Amino acid sequence: MSENQPNLPNAKKVFIKTYGCQMNVYDSDRMTDALAPHGYSPTQDMGEADLVLLNTCHIREKAAEKVYSELGRIRDFRNEREPGAKKMLIGVAGCVAQAEGEEIMARAPAVDLVFGPQSYHRLPELLSKAQTGRVIDTEFPEEDKFAHLPAARKEVTISRGLTAFLTVQEGCDKFCSFCVVPYTRGAEVSRPVAQVLAEARGLADAGVREITLLGQNVNAYHGLGADGQPVSLGALCHMLAEIDGIERIRYTTSHPRDMDDELIAAHRDLPELMPYLHLPVQSGSDSILKAMNRKHTAAQYFEIIDRIRAARPDMAISGDFIVGFPGETDADFAATVEMVRKIGYASAFSFKYSTRPGTPGAQMDNQIEEHVKAERLEVLQAEITRQSQAFNAGCVGLTMPVLIDKPGRNPGQVSGRSPYLQPVHIPADPGLIGQILPVEIVGQAKNSLEGRIITANAKAV
Ligand code: 5AD
Ligand code: SF4
Repeated sequence: MSENQPNLPNAKKVFIKTYGCQMNVYDSDRMTDALAPHGYSPTQDMGEADLVLLNTCHIREKAAEKVYSELGRIRDFRNEREPGAKKMLIGVAGCVAQAEGEEIMARAPAVDLVFGPQSYHRLPELLSKAQTGRVIDTEFPEEDKFAHLPAARKEVTISRGLTAFLTVQEGCDKFCSFCVVPYTRGAEVSRPVAQVLAEARGLADAGVREITLLGQNVNAYHGLGADGQPVSLGALCHMLAEIDGIERIRYTTSHPRDMDDELIAAHRDLPELMPYLHLPVQSGSDSILKAMNRKHTAAQYFEIIDRIRAARPDMAISGDFIVGFPGETDADFAATVEMVRKIGYASAFSFKYSTRPGTPGAQMDNQIEEHVKAERLEVLQAEITRQSQAFNAGCVGLTMPVLIDKPGRNPGQVSGRSPYLQPVHIPADPGLIGQILPVEIVGQAKNSLEGRIITANAKAV
């Protein structure tokens, strides 16, 4: 921002488009926060934007390619804006920026600035540099970006509603051979406990009732506590549960290797910790797990699931799977389907393997043909759908606490989330939004449940 420009609040508008994971959603909010003191307010309308930011995802090729086509559209849009209009700056953030910064500069001359996930706190400074020339910043600085990002502004926080994300950990040291995350997000870093608790208190004060702790490897969390000693995720959950107003805690994404006893015990002991666990396994075949550098076997994964279910029998398990990793045979794939069948997933995400530049998987010479990947994906997804529908069917007739968090699709309806993260549609007064109420599940649709509030004093309609 130039020196002689008045620093009027809300004088400028920023339009942010977010791709990819929940951490990007969180990061986009933090960018909004970082820009607010510099006069930028968020807009949903690119037409009135002074700054357009794409917060990008590099996890699979498709996600990365979308960025270039979107940049073409934005460039055309900017060119069409009447001459004399204020110059709209175009920035690319996130993991594509980190991984392909120079390539973006070369392929997309309309882009004014490119910056990686470790530079968000420097955004105002980068913007002022971009007024006079193109800027690229994809360093991994030593400083703690979280300490430099401003605290979430209340008005932004409120717009997050009753549920919010809170990043507690970033980066990954696991180096699965298919994955770009260790390169784009860097080494594993945990935020100090005091910082996490302060942010959680701020969210609770703003009305948030459910927080989802985020990290690429969230259960490897080991942030330093007040005594300078590392605190595990399980212990952190206990501390967060003490905060008035925080009634539900979730976390994602976890690695099987880091599912320690303390975290499993927290699922047994802490009612605030929701019985839903996203625990990716990727494959059910030991030889593929080895080639993926997953650092665990199929048997170890089953054993972890058994321990979790012993602690919390109703735990809903979710996962991620990759089909068509280099060298995957029909027998390897059959082992994955068999694993899915045995675990009984409440939900799961599955993907065709996508070669990512710079990862060991991309160098492997036994790549699988696209049509084989597509066939396997279809088979796996059919099995996962059967399982999640069976899980939902098993909920019919149960009564469970539902956090009612928004109006429903139809008038006279509200919508909420079950402890198992299923959307629940309920005929009820919108005045109940914000409450956690016991709901009897009376039916299921494709990806959701239908319920009725059963408390005597609730204004069910
Ligand atoms: N190809 C396909 N899927 C991938 N994932 C990560 N990298 C790749 C890749 N190269 C999937 C994994 C991971 C999820 C976030 O994305 O299943 O758990
Ligand atoms: Fe990527 Fe997760 Fe493996 Fe880390 S643990 S390399 S984030 S898939």
